[in-house]
Amino acid sequence: MPTVDGLAFGGDYNPEQWEREVWEEDIALMREAGVNVATVNVFSWASINPGPGKWEFGQLDDIMDLLADGGVRADLATSTASPPPWFSHAHPETLPVAPEGHRLYYGARAEYCPHAPAYQEAVVEMASKLAERYAGHPALAMWHVGNEYYRSCFCDLAATEFRTWLRERYGDLDGLNRAWGTTFWSQTFTDWEQVLPPRACAETPNPGHVLDFRRFGSDARLRLFDSEAAAIAEHSPDKPITTNLMVTGNFAGNDYFRWGEDLNGENRLIAVDHYLIPGDEIAYEPQVAYASALSRGLAHGQPWLLMEQSANSSAWRGGGFPKRPGEQLRHSLGYVAHGSEGAMYFQWRASRYGTERWHAAMVPHGGRETKTFQEAVQLGQWLKNLAEVKGSTVEPQAAILLDYESVWAFDTPGQLSSSMAPFPELRRWHAALWKRGVVCDIAHPAEDLSRYPVVFAPSLQMLDDDANLRRYVEGGGTLVVGPFSGVMDRNEHVHPGLPGALRDLLGVRVVEHVPLREDESVALDDGTTGRLWAETAVSEGAEVIATYTEYPHGPAVFHRRIGSGRVWYLTTRPEDLNPFLDRLDLEPEFPDLPTGVETVRRTHDDGRSYLFALNHTDQEARIPAEGRDLLTDTEWTPTKPLRPNTCAVIRQHR
Ligand code: GLA
Repeated sequence: MPTVDGLAFGGDYNPEQWEREVWEEDIALMREAGVNVATVNVFSWASINPGPGKWEFGQLDDIMDLLADGGVRADLATSTASPPPWFSHAHPETLPVAPEGHRLYYGARAEYCPHAPAYQEAVVEMASKLAERYAGHPALAMWHVGNEYYRSCFCDLAATEFRTWLRERYGDLDGLNRAWGTTFWSQTFTDWEQVLPPRACAETPNPGHVLDFRRFGSDARLRLFDSEAAAIAEHSPDKPITTNLMVTGNFAGNDYFRWGEDLNGENRLIAVDHYLIPGDEIAYEPQVAYASALSRGLAHGQPWLLMEQSANSSAWRGGGFPKRPGEQLRHSLGYVAHGSEGAMYFQWRASRYGTERWHAAMVPHGGRETKTFQEAVQLGQWLKNLAEVKGSTVEPQAAILLDYESVWAFDTPGQLSSSMAPFPELRRWHAALWKRGVVCDIAHPAEDLSRYPVVFAPSLQMLDDDANLRRYVEGGGTLVVGPFSGVMDRNEHVHPGLPGALRDLLGVRVVEHVPLREDESVALDDGTTGRLWAETAVSEGAEVIATYTEYPHGPAVFHRRIGSGRVWYLTTRPEDLNPFLDRLDLEPEFPDLPTGVETVRRTHDDGRSYLFALNHTDQEARIPAEGRDLLTDTEWTPTKPLRPNTCAVIRQHR
């Protein structure tokens, strides 16, 4: 965890964009708001390394000293996310190449090829120099490597690294040819030199090829992160090292569960960026809980940190999406409720120029009088009051399974239905559980799931076998499987005998898939309806719970007991998830709260427990609990009203 006292509060701070007088004002305002961490040096390559072999640390020294003197700790970034023009100009091969084969120019950010040796060497040198210089600096709280890794490149250097990665995975060309099913359309490779990144080709490319390139890209970016982290650790072995993962519910650039293996290591930290999707058709409010559920899942239940969120409108979301009064407070507490060790923002002070000049900030262009800044001050006070929450954890009742590879598989060409995307479905289940007050994690299908009483697998196309899920069910768990799950192996080859890898476990044989038109629904004899998808299926040991009343006819919902565990299989996507959820034994702690009044509990091993209550509705609510509300430092009683759009954090002992 960042070496700060209490919970972390602050944001990206770019003083290099400002005159020195403003720096003094920044520190004064940070103190007023209770900011204790600032993320610095994220995009400062051009100032600290303004030319080949030139190093100018004077400005960063001043910034670090300024923070230390002001009592603010630094989340010190390595600035490698954005090579400056001189670097790209000197090393044109480090500029990324698009799938169509043309090289992209510099002029924005993240303009690098992750596979270019010159870039790989430069970032290690940069990280090493920074770590050597600042390891002992009193401001240093933690290291922030790169920024939101996502860049892909299709150049010849990428081709070379890709081949090495493929050789490691498949051994020889026969293995590769088998995995990609290259006998289809006569795509067989006879020499490694013929294997390229999936560049734009005349028609739909080979799905296995596309999928492996995404795996490779995620691994290559993780290796980049690792190379910097290792260079830092040599000089600064005792400070946490992290990077900011993107947990917005539609980002699948990297396999963060693989990254998590790394970021959960000693002196590492899971830190995340979360930006709300405005006008989100699935659900707006539960997004905070969703992003937190994923972060907690990545951190295996241990504390994690919200590194970035937006204080107001985000320029990247088309602007015009302001947070209503109280919203950023409520959302920030939402992340903390769900296990974040603080609430950080992009960014501290609004930039006067550049692409993000209209992006929200804790200090907007209007300065300290703004609602945004005043709320930041309020939040700073609250987080101070909540310092003792640090280190406590959340106990989820359920998990929803996410496999980034299944998400990628859905993006490969040749889908049976374009409406069966995994992310929206995962978020739909999450939102339904959230509305019922059930706290759940997002977890990976291959991990030990035994700590979750119920596990949902709404959309898991790719599974080699059922071993881990079977272990979970045989151990007494309840598994709920959505349609079109387990149908393909890790190479995207369709398993013989549908539904595939899960057939034996489910005790169900699927005869035929029946993708539905978007406006179509199917009726079940329990009064519910399904959409997007249906199947004709027969029982091979499972009990039939509901049946289609018309086409495709036959069983629609199956249930099976295995030892003390149970498994459900849904052959359609229920239009309303509630009737199905009613069948499960999933009671929230406060079942009578209205929808939109959220409670989450964080508990320390010694029994100190904090009940976070967040009222997302426009009605007063009552939370039937007693204890001390740490936000207002007053006693909480069951009769006390929780006003609309406000929060309470009630200290109790369990
Ligand atoms: C990302 C980046 C930041 C900034 C914000 C704006 O999270 O990490 O540098 O661009 O988006 O929303």
